[in-house]
Amino acid sequence: MKVIITEDYEEMSRKAFEIMVETVKNKPDAVLGLATGTTPLGLYGKMKEDFKANGTSYKNIKTVNLDEYVGLDGSDKNSYASFMRENLFNGLDVDLKNTYIENGSAPDAEKECERYNEVLSGLQQDIQLLGLGSNGHIAFNEPFTLFGTEVHVVKLAESTIRDNARLFDNIEDVPVKAYTMGPKNIMRAKKILVLASGANKADAVYGAVKGEITESLPASILQLHPDCILIADKEAAARL
Ligand code: F6R
Repeated sequence: MKVIITEDYEEMSRKAFEIMVETVKNKPDAVLGLATGTTPLGLYGKMKEDFKANGTSYKNIKTVNLDEYVGLDGSDKNSYASFMRENLFNGLDVDLKNTYIENGSAPDAEKECERYNEVLSGLQQDIQLLGLGSNGHIAFNEPFTLFGTEVHVVKLAESTIRDNARLFDNIEDVPVKAYTMGPKNIMRAKKILVLASGANKADAVYGAVKGEITESLPASILQLHPDCILIADKEAAARL
């Protein structure tokens, strides 16, 4: 794994932007695996600014998102589908028909997992962006998820519900289950770009980079990927 330590969040976002935009310029029909959460917001802001200023085009790009809350329709303001439209897609020329994510309001969860697995098997990610949970989760693969797992429904860990409550009006509104790509879907990406910022990610970053490869810290599987770059600001990298 290649590790880049930056001074702060801004520099982390800028370096991530450089890698992302290079992928898009080299392959205008690339498949981008995308993440939600706070960490990629700086990167997404830079992608939108660059589109406005330089016209880097996303019109033939396809995107696949990691995860979605079970029970929230894509039109719900707290859904990850809305998050992506608001924080990225609305500021680019991406064709929304080419943006893929689990359907949180699907009537049959098992069928929805099968459907999304099929979508993914036809769309290998040229690059997969990841954030890190403070407990070392990637996407919503909580500790002890088997590394061979594909798209599935998870019951979110208490710590994840607490971490995510800041985005909801009340902690009771945070869904308790989510669809997520499994470690296996993530590891199929040609390249993986992991971002981490802030002291609360320091243990997860240590486990991802230097810890034992173990299902008790899902991000540790990334050590087995042939082309994984982790960009952490100095607070997140404090234990390295
Ligand atoms: C988001 C996702 C999660 C987040 C992680 C970090 O799609 O899959 O794994 O990347 O929980 O979240 P933030 O960036 O909010 O600290």
